[in-house]
Order: sequence, then structure tokens, then C-alpha cells
Amino acid sequence: MIKFTFSISHIAKVLILLSLIGLSGYAQKKTSIKPGELWPDNNGNHINAHGGGIIKLKDTYYWYGEEHRKLKDPHYRYVSCYTSKDLMNWTSQGTVLSMKEPDTILRNWVLERPKVFYNKKTNKFVMYMHVDGEIVGQGGDYLYAQVGIAVSDHATGPFTFIKCFRPFGHISRDIGQFIDDDGTAYLIFEDRPSKGFHIARLSGDYMNVEEDVCLIKSPLEGGAIVNYQGLYYAIGSALTGWVPNPNKYATATSLKGPWTEFKDIAPPETNTYNSQSTLLLKVIGDKQTTVVFLADQWKKEAVGDSRYLWMPVHIGDGRLWLPEPRPWSINVRTGDVKFLKKDIVKK
Ligand code: GAL
Repeated sequence: MIKFTFSISHIAKVLILLSLIGLSGYAQKKTSIKPGELWPDNNGNHINAHGGGIIKLKDTYYWYGEEHRKLKDPHYRYVSCYTSKDLMNWTSQGTVLSMKEPDTILRNWVLERPKVFYNKKTNKFVMYMHVDGEIVGQGGDYLYAQVGIAVSDHATGPFTFIKCFRPFGHISRDIGQFIDDDGTAYLIFEDRPSKGFHIARLSGDYMNVEEDVCLIKSPLEGGAIVNYQGLYYAIGSALTGWVPNPNKYATATSLKGPWTEFKDIAPPETNTYNSQSTLLLKVIGDKQTTVVFLADQWKKEAVGDSRYLWMPVHIGDGRLWLPEPRPWSINVRTGDVKFLKKDIVKK
């Protein structure tokens, strides 16, 4: 006679474990990017890296972003990092910067849109961030308006805060990052009084801004730039806070300009499919180059639950268009993109 060595409780435990694994999506390899949906990391947690920036080192992508925690500490703010080799599956590297307010005059402060640059000469990772908040005695919520810098010897941190400053003395709110094809690194920063955003070349060690290359005179934030086939495309959103608006783009043959008029990147009534620009990522494959629009779909009441809208754009000959979001996949080696549903959007 067969002897049952498993008790009912053993079997129940195994079943519970199997269903938990299934529910969390843990260890399930993703084969697509689903814009606007929850995006589980390797542990099954929604990726918490908002207003982010991405760099690629060897064959690994590093995604840095605002890490929002449910329990808000009055003093500390955090930056997270995730790594991936295919842009679809992301491994949490945890918190890479844990920072206390950098100034005694700051209250209710925010650390937004962190962007990391790797400096080959110094072998350092230099993080730029938007540091803002109330100023004691003056109130207001975005009055501090400075850029912060933190540094690490490793891509996955820990980063150490170094300083805050106003680039070339200007008020600085949303920041963006742009690394040109020749490796030159630029900080993009929004300057409210000048009604535009600056493109600032970084110094040799990336610890400062060195040249105010251009002030694009258009009241836009969430600035992002890509160099595609020798033409620069700049994207930005209108100044409506967490509320989405029609993001726009302009082009120029030189970063110094002149820049064309700004035009819609998507049907304006969709408010950029409820998203706000943060980065244009160029994936250079051996078959084709794909430019991906990276944006946040903000949830003001629970910023950590905000979603990501990543979509490859139609780009070329001075035109840029964001197709209607739908699941897609990318082969980072070839640069090829596949849509899970037919591409119905006209260029
Ligand atoms: C947006 C900005 C975000 C955040 C938000 C706060 O315009 O892009 O990074 O600052 O405003 O209202």
C-alpha cells in the first residue's frame, strides 16, 4: 500500500506558496512594457523611481528616480535605483541616496527628478536633483528652487550629498539630463523668471555647470532632449504642476538654437495621454535606433503609486510624434520594437 508522506497542511502550504508566487509576478520574466500599468520589479513591487533618469554602462541600464515612501519623514528624502539589461525587467538596487534637508532655512522640502551622470575622467557618479520647498518665515512651496549634487564611487551608491546651488545664479526648478553623442553632458533646468529652460554644459568633473549654452524661451518644464540623426529635439510640458497637459517639441540643428516653434507631440485633448515628460532615451541597436519617450503619470495624492508611460516615438526629418500607448517590447541589441496591438496612429 502507498504511504502518503504529505499531510493536508503540507499540501495547503505548498498551494498557498504557489499562488503567492503567481499573484506577485515574482520571477516572471516580462516580455513587454505596459504603459500606464503597475510595473513590478524583481520583488514584485511597483517600481518607485519617479521623475527618473537613465544611463547605460556596458550592457546595463541604471534607472534612478524619486523614491516616495508611504510614511513621509519630515526630514529625509530618497532616491532609488533599478537595473536592467533589457529595459523591461528591472531589479531593485534599493535606496541609493537618503538625504536630510540640506539647509536650515528649508521646510517641507522636496527632492525631485534626480539624474545621474557617469564621469569617465574622475570615475565618479554625479547625481543632480531639484531641491525645493518652503523657506522659513516666507512660506511658499517652491521658493528655494536650487539644484543639488550628490556623488558616489558606484552606480548603485551610496551617494553623498555635496552642495546646493543656483546654476549661473538662476532660479532652477524641474531638471533634465542630456548626454550628446560625443559624450558631452548637459543639465536642463527650468528658470521661471526667464520663462524658459536652460541647456547648461557641465564642467569637466560634472561638479558644476560651465556654459549656459541656450535659454529656450518657452515656459516649459519636464525638459528632455535627444540628438537624432544630427538634429536636436527638445520636449517639455506646460507649467501645470501634477496635472497633465499637451507636451510639445521643437528642433534645432545646434543646441544653441535657433529652435523652431513648439508643436504638439500627441493629440492635445489627450494631455499627452495623461503624462508628463521626464527623459528621451535613445537605444542604438545594430539594426535600428529607437527613441523612447519616458513620462510620469502622476498621482498627486499618492505620488509613489504614480505610473510610467514609456513609448517609442515616431521621429525623423524634424517631426516627432507619440503614438497611442499600448504594450510593446524592445530588443536592445537590435533596437527593434514590436507593438502588441497594431499601430493605428498616423505619423
Ligand atoms: C510638476 C513638476 C513635478 C513636480 C510637480 C509639483 O510641474 O514637473 O516634478 O514638481 O510639478 O507640483
